[in-house]
This record gives sequence, C-alpha cells and structure tokens, in this order.
Amino acid sequence: MKSLEYKNDNLFFDGIAIEDIAKNIKTPFYIYSEDSIKKNIKDYISDASQKTLFCYSVKANSNLSLLKLIASQGMGFDVVSKGELHRAIKAGANPKRIVYSGVGKTKEEIAYALNNKILCFNVESEEELFAINSQASLMKLKADISIRINPDVKVKTHPYISTGMRENKFGIAYEDAFEIYKKAKQLDSINIVGIDFHIGSQIMSIEPYLDSIASVKKLIQKLDTIDIKLSHIDVGGGLGISYKGEKLVDKSEYVKTIINSLSDLDLNIIFEPGRSIVGDCGILVSQVQYVKESSAKNFLIIDASMSELMRPPLYGAYHEITPTRKSEMPNKVYDVVGPVCESSDFIGKERKLNCKSGDLLVIQDVGAYGSVLSSNYNTRPRPAEYMISNSEIKLIRSADTLDQIIENESC
Ligand SMILES: Cc1ncc(COP(=O)(O)O)c(C=O)c1O
Repeated sequence: MKSLEYKNDNLFFDGIAIEDIAKNIKTPFYIYSEDSIKKNIKDYISDASQKTLFCYSVKANSNLSLLKLIASQGMGFDVVSKGELHRAIKAGANPKRIVYSGVGKTKEEIAYALNNKILCFNVESEEELFAINSQASLMKLKADISIRINPDVKVKTHPYISTGMRENKFGIAYEDAFEIYKKAKQLDSINIVGIDFHIGSQIMSIEPYLDSIASVKKLIQKLDTIDIKLSHIDVGGGLGISYKGEKLVDKSEYVKTIINSLSDLDLNIIFEPGRSIVGDCGILVSQVQYVKESSAKNFLIIDASMSELMRPPLYGAYHEITPTRKSEMPNKVYDVVGPVCESSDFIGKERKLNCKSGDLLVIQDVGAYGSVLSSNYNTRPRPAEYMISNSEIKLIRSADTLDQIIENESC
C-alpha cells in the first residue's frame, strides 16, 4: 500500500506511527488517508476532457466525510438506493451529478430520486422502465433515463463480482435492448438520455471495456436510425486495485483509452469507479488477543472479525496482514481469525507472522467494501472510522455502542 511504510521497524500510515495512533483509539478501527483518496481522484480526472463525468460509486464506502471529500474533488456519484442518494445529498452533492443504478428500485425510491432531480436513472429491466414512467407521470415530471445493457462480456474476476454476463441479474440483455429503447421512446414521461453498462469489479485490464464499447457502439448506431439520439454513455466502474502485487491498470491511461475509443461519437462519458478511488486508502487496525498453537494448526485470534471485514469469508478475498512492529524472529504459519462463532470467520489463511498477544496487526487495502459490509453479527459494535487529513487524525464515524445496537428492539 502506498501510504504504509516501516521506519525503524515501526509501521507508519500516512506519516504517523500506527502504534501511536492506537494508543488513544480502541481496536479494531478503520483509518483512511485523505491524501491517497485525492491522489486516486486526480489520476482519473486530471487528463480527462470536458465531456466526462466521474461518479464515485457510493457502495464502495459511503461514509459521509468521504463523500464530502470526494464531492469537493469534483466527482459526482453513482447510487443504488434511496439511502445512498440521501447520503450523497447530505454530503453536499449536486443531484445533477448523480446517476441511479440497481435492479430493484422501488416506487418510493423512484419518487425520491425524481423529487431530487437526479441526472438519470440507469434502467435495468422493462418493468422498471414502466414503473419509472408511471411514477414520473403521477408527479407530472419527465424522468431522464439511460438503459443498462448487459454486453455479455466475460471478465476475469470473482464470479460474485462479475456483472456483465448473460447469466447475471444486472442490465438488459444486449439482444433485447433495441426493442426496449423503442418502447421507451413511446412513453410520455420518459426522456432517453443515455446508454450504460457495468461489467464487474476488480478488473485488471482495459480489454473487456473496449469489447463492451465495441458492441454498445453498434447499438448506438442502430438507435440513430430510429432517431434516438443519446447525450451520454456510462461505462460503469470496476477497475481493480493491487491486493497481492497484481499489476495495476494506470487510471489516466484507462480514461484516455476509453475516451479515444469513443472519439467518433459526440457523447459525454460517465465513469463510475468505486474500489479504485478508496480501496487502497484504508487499513483496519486490530490487536492480537490470543496465540493458539497446536500440532494440527496455529491460529492468531484477533479482535477484528467477519463482522468488521466480510470480504475474506464472502469472496475468499486476500488482504495483506502486517505487524506494526517488524520482527527478525523466525515466522510461523498462522490462520488469522476473529472471535465470531463461524468457521468462515477468518481474515487471512496460512500467513507467515511472528506475533504475541497484545501485538497490533494492520489489515491492508480495506477502504472499499470494508466498513460498508460490516455488521453487528454476534452483537459486535461496528468499528469506528478515522481519516488522516493534513497530518491530523479525525474521527469520521464513532463505533456503535451496545445501546445503539439494541435500541430498535423491544422486550
Ligand atoms: C453499477 C455499478 N457501478 C459502479 C460500481 C463500482 O464498481 P467498482 O467498485 O469495482 O469500481 C458497481 C459495483 O459493483 C456497480 O454495481
């Protein structure tokens, strides 16, 4: 990770010794680097032309302070629920820079988005198109829409985060899209503005994007023949980060390549990156509670678990785990596990580490799909989140209290 380095055998994050940070903060906690987030955004935006809009995908990390920072750096937002839209607006986003994706928008959610005058709905089914039309008609408004196409492109990633294939629930099948555009054109309360795809997450090459653009372009030409003129194409998000030394796609190269591939069309281009904005900007700091060794297996039992970080049990995701104090002692092999009562509660398997109880461990690259996927399972408080901003440590979300966890229940 960019902002992590050892100095005199002590691990520093964004220039501050993690042991010093943890002196005053209860583990486990998330902490993010503002500078790293700004740098990632700059890498996307700085070489882009006027005709681009970068909409951060709120699901990756929806903390209000992060959203406010991201909006201040010139990004719009991609949301998938009323809750995410509410957060984006609360963080000061301009609704005209918000796109709304997701396969199951309810009437209530559609009405909320219409009231807030968002940039457009990314429509994911024919029924949803009709639902948006009815709601807009009831409200005497016109809904700006874009149709999400499923380009049936195979992406080399985990099957749970591939979204652009025929068997995935997302988007409208390529071969059906033309007919749906024709129907949309007939609807009084629909205004067609764009075309959209999102093919998956943690993608490590530009090729699948170019393949998708090539097929979507054919559809755009066909739409032109029936006088459907679009004003934008949305190429989704999905660029990956390096969790285990994978070779990265250069963000500005990616943006330039996409812009070039669309240079023959007079369209604005929307990007929806999530993971690649925040993923490598956050760590989870945890303390070793017990070292449990046996002839069969060694475990480090830490105070973070699947309740705080779901990605390893959910996708078998890999996160580097690094001690805050470098040791020259020979390593042993451990499974790093949490206290939750599930055998799937692991953070890392077969890691070479040298630790004793009380030591601090850093779980890397957890800025995206980390805290947002945390839960209160086993009645564990979701952890606090902090941000390092101008060398200052700011609390951006307190840990849950036990009373908060049970406050909506009755007995
Ligand atoms: C529609 C849509 N756009 C953007 C994203 C962001 O993807 P990523 O975090 O991989 O950039 C997602 C994530 O699944 C998505 O579903």
